Amino acid sequence: MRKILVLTIGLCFIAGTAMAFHDGGVAHCNGCHTMHNSQNGVLVDPDSPNGNPWLLKDSTPSDVCIACHDHLDQPLGTDPLAPPALKGGGNFVYLLEDNLNDGHGGATNPIPGDAAGHNLNAPGHGLAPDATHSVSPGGSFPASQMGCTSCHDPHGTGDFRFLYGAGRVVQDGLATFTNAAPDADGLSIFGAPESETNHTAYKGGMSAWCGNCHGDFHANNTQLVHPSGMAIGGTIAQTYNLYNGTVDQQGGAQATAYLAEVPFEDPANTTSSTAGPSASSQVSCITCHRAHATSAPDAGRWDFNVTLLEEDGLNSGSYVIPDPYNNPNQRSLCNKCHNKDAFDHITP
Ligand code: HEC
Ligand code: HEC
Ligand code: HEC
Ligand code: HEC
Ligand code: HEC
Ligand code: HEC
Repeated sequence: MRKILVLTIGLCFIAGTAMAFHDGGVAHCNGCHTMHNSQNGVLVDPDSPNGNPWLLKDSTPSDVCIACHDHLDQPLGTDPLAPPALKGGGNFVYLLEDNLNDGHGGATNPIPGDAAGHNLNAPGHGLAPDATHSVSPGGSFPASQMGCTSCHDPHGTGDFRFLYGAGRVVQDGLATFTNAAPDADGLSIFGAPESETNHTAYKGGMSAWCGNCHGDFHANNTQLVHPSGMAIGGTIAQTYNLYNGTVDQQGGAQATAYLAEVPFEDPANTTSSTAGPSASSQVSCITCHRAHATSAPDAGRWDFNVTLLEEDGLNSGSYVIPDPYNNPNQRSLCNKCHNKDAFDHITP
């Protein structure tokens, strides 16, 4: 079940994919801007014949980014059943799904694709703001303006993935962030996909960063919500390290326990580290969510509505998120830290 992303024609400004553009800073201005909306007597952005507030080459900031990023490997894709390889953030193509509901009765109670994660105001590519949320839950960022440049500074920052940090003004005045950009190292967007030995190195600060728009949503125990941005403690660290799937709950070891599907933050993480957490490692928003979108509701790193991971995709016909343990009896990945499948009756 799919719709196809509206492909961009004639808006590609680079010759091959393996070419740098941003180079970690501000790219050449006319990669994104047009001064007169005219070249060779033809409108550069035919969608904005009466002008564009930022002299952009396409109608919205996100449309400008997507013009290149839909055919780069990341982070759009064109077919929600054949997404591009994961690099960490997750793919926006699932916003086009007609159903993400793999819970009970999911086939007849569709959860539309706009619940797959952050929506994008990019009409030129068939994408629209969220139909459910008008602001960021826990905060006040306007969903109507949500797009690539709500999180990434188009002119670059010195930080990870040029995300905005403390004091940075977002989208020409729409918001000012108060918390720093996260400390992390990412994969090359042209390199090998995410795996257990090749993944974003989340070092710290992601929960506070998401909190720039989501307030202290999920942030502390006093609100009786799941903690984020706090140490996981010795007991949970040990559970994580021993847990090697529903069928092998005590067989893991700290040196090899890292699961890219259930990451934690730790300054010692590297893009190839396989070590599990210590008591001071932190549970973070990114433990359970991806930053862009996934083929599960709420940008879940796994589908929170299924009992066995192998049920993913069955009711909805959406993309099946791979089970890292590759076992038909595997239960929810919440068990990596809580091991509540100890009494699972495995009936082969
Ligand atoms: C990767 C795309 C991209 C590149 C490259 C780029 N811009 Fe922008 N620029 C944008 C977008 C998108 C906006 C609209 C505001 C937003 O969404 O943050 C913008 C807004 C602006 C603004 C008005 C708002 C502000 O932030 O001051 C100015 C001025 C500007 N750009 C100048 C430049 C100059 C000069 C260069 C080259 C040195 C450049 N831009 C390169 C995408 C880009
Ligand atoms: C002209 C084509 C083009 C446009 C337009 C474009 N990008 Fe890119 N982008 C690239 C290429 C090529 C790369 C990979 C190499 C590099 O980083 O320069 C990339 C990489 C990135 C990265 C990863 C960078 C890193 O070093 O970790 C981010 C984040 C990104 N782009 C965001 C954006 C955003 C946001 C916009 C819109 C404001 C945008 N891009 C517009 C071509 C483009
Ligand atoms: C620039 C502001 C901003 C930042 C930063 C931000 N969000 Fe959001 N988020 C929003 C808005 C606005 C919505 C509601 C509209 C939408 O889904 O596009 C939202 C919605 C969500 C949703 C619900 C999606 C749905 O479809 O129901 C989740 C989950 C989420 N955010 C998680 C995160 C996480 C995790 C981070 C950090 C990696 C983060 N957000 C960072 C603004 C933000
Ligand atoms: C809600 C904030 C948010 C929005 C909106 C957003 N990004 Fe990102 N993006 C991030 C974060 C955070 C990361 C790092 C993710 C990770 O490694 O877990 C990232 C990573 C990336 C990367 C590196 C590859 C990857 O998938 O990890 C690229 C390229 C990128 N973003 C481009 C874009 C473009 C283009 C758009 C709009 C089409 C966009 N982003 C919208 C927050 C956002
Ligand atoms: C332990 C896993 C976990 C962590 C950590 C976590 N979330 Fe969630 N999040 C969920 C689940 C599961 C849902 C589905 C709704 C629910 O269970 O309340 C959700 C739902 C959401 C929603 C949608 C709420 C709505 O009203 O539609 C947003 C936004 C969100 N999370 C943001 C965040 C942010 C921001 C952080 C970090 C500060 C975070 N989450 C940390 C698991 C988590
Ligand atoms: C990276 C590890 C990690 C993951 C994954 C994780 N949690 Fe947690 N969870 C924690 C930590 C740390 C606490 C706080 C424990 C404490 O204070 O003793 C916690 C607390 C809880 C609590 C409250 C327990 C109490 O004693 O009050 C519940 C319920 C819970 N988690 C459910 C979940 C669910 C459901 C998921 C999957 C959506 C999940 N957790 C995923 C680490 C994790």
